[in-house]
Amino acid sequence: MGIQINPSILSADFANLEAELGRIADADWAHVDVMDGHFVPNLTLGLPIVESLLKVSPVPLDCHLMIEQPDRWAPAYAEAGAQGVTFHAEAAAAPVRLARELRRHGARAGMALKPATPVEPFVDLLPELDMLLVMTVEPGFGGQSFLDVTLPKIRRARAAIAGAGLDVWLQVDGGVSASTIERAAEAGADVFVAGSAVYGAEDAAAAVAELRAKAQA
Ligand code: DX5
Ligand code: ZN
Repeated sequence: MGIQINPSILSADFANLEAELGRIADADWAHVDVMDGHFVPNLTLGLPIVESLLKVSPVPLDCHLMIEQPDRWAPAYAEAGAQGVTFHAEAAAAPVRLARELRRHGARAGMALKPATPVEPFVDLLPELDMLLVMTVEPGFGGQSFLDVTLPKIRRARAAIAGAGLDVWLQVDGGVSASTIERAAEAGADVFVAGSAVYGAEDAAAAVAELRAKAQA
């Protein structure tokens, strides 16, 4: 699939989301951060807004659910037509069952790991997933600094995916910018979420192009 750049609308103007999605029409996906105020200490948006975004987005939606009880809530995002749904390993009671349910509804199934969650216990689950998200900040807020301590885990995740001969996308999220994306790419990530680096830029399309060029370098 190659390199993908997914801007996070967490850093967009929430009063103008249709226009803000229009600014990133050159990106691969739009990353939508759903936070419930419990799994993370922040609250953003939920299913009704995702349903509305699906009607107007020029790119598919990559929904990152930072919520408790994803087994209960995540399938509805896939049923609504979200093209990608990612739940957190720390919150899922039955990740294999949940991933299968997401796929059954036609979504790409993703599983996310917080910085302190090791990848090793989940390696055998990789065939059930379309994407693994290695968080490169503690989830909850945009604009944080990229955590270099996550680089060895990105490397180990890439090695596990390659070793099993799988086509699982490896996403990084948090602190990804023109100055950090090369490190993440070198470690083996191929899907890059960037919030402030894209929406904080005057020209979002140019920011996406710059990130893409650096990730491919
Ligand atoms: C953080 C979110 C990220 C956030 C990234 O919990 O999951 O998607 O939007 O923002 P930046 O790129 O500014 O770190
Ligand atoms: Zn995210």
